[in-house]
Amino acid sequence: MKVLIPTKLDKFVVKYLTENGYEVILNAEKPVSQLAAENLDANVIIVRSEKVTPEIMDLLPELKLVVRAGAGYDNIDIKYARRKRIDVMNTPGANSNAVAEEVVAMMLALARHVVPADISTRAGGWEKKAFMGTELTGKTIGIIGLGNIGRLLVKRLSGFDVKVLAFDPILSSSLAKQIDVELCSLEEIFTKSDYISLHIPENNETRGMVNKHYLDMMKDGAAIVNCARAGIINEADLRAVKATKKIRFATDVYPKDEAGLKPVADIADLMLPHLGASTSEANFNAAKRAAEQTVAYFEKGITNCVVNKGVPDGLDEHFQSLAYVLTALGRQYLGENRPPHKIETSFYGELKEFGSWMLAPITAGISNEFDPFMDAADAKSFLEERGIDYKNREVDNNKHYGQSMTIDLFEGSENINHVSVRGTLTENHLMISRLNNFDSLYLEPTGHNLFVEYSDEPGVIGKIASILGDKNINIIDIRAPQDLSSNRSLAVVKTNVRVPDELVSKIKITVKATVAFCLSYF
Ligand code: 3PG
Repeated sequence: MKVLIPTKLDKFVVKYLTENGYEVILNAEKPVSQLAAENLDANVIIVRSEKVTPEIMDLLPELKLVVRAGAGYDNIDIKYARRKRIDVMNTPGANSNAVAEEVVAMMLALARHVVPADISTRAGGWEKKAFMGTELTGKTIGIIGLGNIGRLLVKRLSGFDVKVLAFDPILSSSLAKQIDVELCSLEEIFTKSDYISLHIPENNETRGMVNKHYLDMMKDGAAIVNCARAGIINEADLRAVKATKKIRFATDVYPKDEAGLKPVADIADLMLPHLGASTSEANFNAAKRAAEQTVAYFEKGITNCVVNKGVPDGLDEHFQSLAYVLTALGRQYLGENRPPHKIETSFYGELKEFGSWMLAPITAGISNEFDPFMDAADAKSFLEERGIDYKNREVDNNKHYGQSMTIDLFEGSENINHVSVRGTLTENHLMISRLNNFDSLYLEPTGHNLFVEYSDEPGVIGKIASILGDKNINIIDIRAPQDLSSNRSLAVVKTNVRVPDELVSKIKITVKATVAFCLSYF
């Protein structure tokens, strides 16, 4: 195993990996792309904030794992990595204390004018009046995001007897009580706090979230500290609000981690060069965690820190394959030029909480233009762009269906064609249990399956078998459920090769079938 480390990490990482039989190339001077180009057989990359782009992943055919020695992984294209089956992990918590302490340092530095007072005194000044400060003790601190860093910040601040307000959409009120914070809305945080500190990632939901609406609510003299990611604050809005009222802004983060004049310089009261995790303790912790997690990943298959999993913990990935194949079957049933305008799903048992993880495979089942390694958000936009409605129905788990799913597709404007397919897993095999009213189908879809639906009459299966036999196509299995309510039959014939389209048409005509198609799945 070859590990590339194009960053400055504690030497523990090299020692640990080498002792475990890994070849390590650590070089913080060369860009990632150059190191990659010189080591095309690399299996792992460990980075801090260095970018890992699709181009770099494309360069390395053997790349299996990218480790972010730190918390935020917005420097790595995790979706592209998923498509290439490359796992990406971070080392959550490794540098939390360093960041939490940095926030306290920034708050105190703002409160006591540490930086300008140093500059002035050094230059011979004695500006005691100008640098009259305030105390942190007794103030109200608003924390946005109570993950590892946010919670440690609460702990570190406790000695100052401050009141902590927190916004976190998933923190339970009992835990909030336990750590002595008051959960409240963003509006309350911005209205009441003397200091606001951000501890959330930057993503599509949080980008630009701290905007004029909230900044306008800040008290005169209140401060906002950003040691999370630059994009969370709308810079133009901050500039506009700062022009009208006396709020303070301390930042450690910028759109790019690089030298050069920063556009926020005119509005920032305190600026640090992304030093949050830059303590020797955090650097050691992150290096140790990155090295240990790499070895545990390859030697024991431990993936709990993988951030771009195709499936979350608790979901068997076979269910995603099932969602795909049920949809592909429904799509074929509707007919080639009859794409659905609506998809409805029901996920039973424990699958109920994993519905969104099925949306990408379902979308891939509808259209082979959609890459199944994309995520639910991509799938949603893909469907929306094509005018396809998606609804995940509330299910009644009293039916005791176990872990199973039903996928319904609707097509047409006046005469709506509707197909409904149900399936589950049996002994780890995909099992299609129902197609429309053909209740006891129990088909394992792997291989080539010829579906023929017809008005029930004797001899049809014999005719199909003889047409196939004439062409030397071997039958491996046959299912023939009946829909007694409508006197219709379904023959599903599993064959050793895919039945060619012209033969499917011949069978359809010969047995006067209403539907005939072939579904191949591997
Ligand atoms: C993180 O996301 O872990 C921190 O922002 C630190 O980033 P760094 O490792 O690039 O200093």
